[in-house]
Amino acid sequence: MKAQMTLTVNGEERDVFAAVHKTLLEVLREDLGLTGTKHGCELGECGACTVLVDGEPVLSCLALPVECQGREITTVEGLAQGERLHPLQQAFAELGAAQCGYCTPGMLLSARALLEATPMPTRDEVRQALAGNLCRCTGYTKILDAVELAALRLHRAGQIERSQARAGDSPGARAMVTGRA
Ligand code: FES
Ligand code: FES
Repeated sequence: MKAQMTLTVNGEERDVFAAVHKTLLEVLREDLGLTGTKHGCELGECGACTVLVDGEPVLSCLALPVECQGREITTVEGLAQGERLHPLQQAFAELGAAQCGYCTPGMLLSARALLEATPMPTRDEVRQALAGNLCRCTGYTKILDAVELAALRLHRAGQIERSQARAGDSPGARAMVTGRA
């Protein structure tokens, strides 16, 4: 039996007509062509299939799409902005935190949820947030380093944005930074 549903994925509404027994993982990959979300154990044990639902990590192999209607689903395809990588993606790429890359989408999404809730996590907090995401290649140190690097960069970018906003609020400062003083 098939059912019609509307899912909001990476900010876009997508209509799906899919078999009711399909998991969110299967619908994302097979019906919506979003193969960035990886298919691992299908038992809720490896974290390869992690996506965000309303900002919280969810194992898509254990979730039914019908339960996700009306909620915001984010997959790895929704992290970058055009050609601009998310700072987590950038840090993973720079530090070699992805080898075969199979665990990477799930790691990135768990890490994104962590940084939204805890912008400057301790190493233990990073470790805890990623505890459900298994990697068979890298040995975790580079992954933890990459999350910390991204946190630091996001924090600095926030500081710069805040100081630019303050300068923008002051006509004198605005004039100086635009050469009109
Ligand atoms: S595929 Fe979902 S937890 Fe392993
Ligand atoms: S990079 Fe291969 S499983 Fe993690």
